[in-house]
Amino acid sequence: MSIFRTMPVDNVLTRHSGSELVQRLTARHLVGFGIGIIIGTGIFTLTGVEAKQHAGPAVVLSFVIGGLIAGLAGICYAELASSVPTAGSAYTYAYATLGEIFAWIIGWDLLLEFALGSAVVARSWSGYVANLLDLPQEWFGESATINIGAIGIIAVLTTVALTGIRESSWVTNALVVVKVAVCVIVVGAGLFFVKGENLTPFVPPAESAPSETSALEQPLVQAVLGMEQSVYGIGGVLTAAAVVFFAYTGFEALANLGEETKRPQRDFPIGLLGSLVVCALLYVAVSFVLTGMVDYRNIDEGAPLAVAFDVVGQPWVAALISLGALTGLTSVMMVQLVTIGRIGYAMSRDGLFPKILSRVHPRFGTPHLMTAGGALVIMILSGLIPISELADMVSIGALSGMMLVAIAVPVLRKTKPHLRRPFRVPLSPWVPVITALACLYLMANLSLITWIRFGVWLALGIVIYVGYGRRNAVLTKSEQQRDVLDG
Ligand code: ALA
Repeated sequence: MSIFRTMPVDNVLTRHSGSELVQRLTARHLVGFGIGIIIGTGIFTLTGVEAKQHAGPAVVLSFVIGGLIAGLAGICYAELASSVPTAGSAYTYAYATLGEIFAWIIGWDLLLEFALGSAVVARSWSGYVANLLDLPQEWFGESATINIGAIGIIAVLTTVALTGIRESSWVTNALVVVKVAVCVIVVGAGLFFVKGENLTPFVPPAESAPSETSALEQPLVQAVLGMEQSVYGIGGVLTAAAVVFFAYTGFEALANLGEETKRPQRDFPIGLLGSLVVCALLYVAVSFVLTGMVDYRNIDEGAPLAVAFDVVGQPWVAALISLGALTGLTSVMMVQLVTIGRIGYAMSRDGLFPKILSRVHPRFGTPHLMTAGGALVIMILSGLIPISELADMVSIGALSGMMLVAIAVPVLRKTKPHLRRPFRVPLSPWVPVITALACLYLMANLSLITWIRFGVWLALGIVIYVGYGRRNAVLTKSEQQRDVLDG
């Protein structure tokens, strides 16, 4: 019962042909799904927060750094997703390469990323709705004791997600078109109001952190190097890059759709990299326009893009942006909910979660119990916990998962040299090693408190794995059968 045992790759591949999930997605669907889950709170809200708190106009550079690292991770995902197409994405790749304990950690990280991610997005959706329709802050805003708006939107979208991937995909694509169009309009209209003086100095000089900042808010790398706690400067750009990495998270969701994709070998690289490139270009353009329109010290942290247009006397563009944000956030939550179902399905099928969670709905063909169970947890989180407490956790969960995925690429090349690899990471092992180190470095720029919370989450995961998953894993059962037969 070694915790490092691996799932034979052939098992994963054969299982693919007998999958109960229906293959009906193409590269176009994947790019749509990708953009649908990637663009969201990151660009609509965190851009303003990070420009103001950490990076100034250089938040543009933070988006470039985040985009490059997400792109590197995307390339690693593309090799694994095209050679091992399956419903569990990174979790399954790790099972086939690094061993069960790493697979569990990745699956556990992905659940953290998507559950907390959708809770973050649900709360910011609720805030925008309150802003647009003038609803009471005590039920819909960040000050709410119980956020009714966030709970309500998750309940509605869970119902849509449960009815099946086709409906979710159709609705998601329609929402994506509106979201991208609004971003383009923001850039087109905002460019006329960009002022050179707002963009100078582009990288504001480093200064001491405000006195009210807690010591636990210091980035890990600063604490380890014994530096004084500071904001802005190059360090600020890197901290902002780690936080706005949130804006790129979600593309891993595509790799869960392996069993529902017609030609995963060709469709995955196009889907993963295509959606990342589109998003990175939009993020850089939007963050440049925002910081050019408003002095970073005066940026609104609640609805930064909309308020920027209010400030320059364009309320109709501001309203359009609020509508676009609502639309965009809806599509993000939709894909997040679908993804939680897929990851849980894969983990339960392997016996690491109770079997009942991988039951597929007889009519809709969706893993309905896992999706509904996940949604319940998200409703509780999004109803009770503030956005700021949740967002950094999503970044650290995503980055640690991507680091392990990058390591899995050269490991699988060594252990399965003859596996068909329709897409190959160039210059392996160098590119995967650089990717893993870059993810780790970005994680080190997150705060101490985020690391502590992440440690607690991992410890909880290990306890569940040791207490339940390890004993009930399908691999344990087959080992026991083999022992009986040999016996
Ligand atoms: N990347 C997604 C967002 O920015 C989670 O909302």
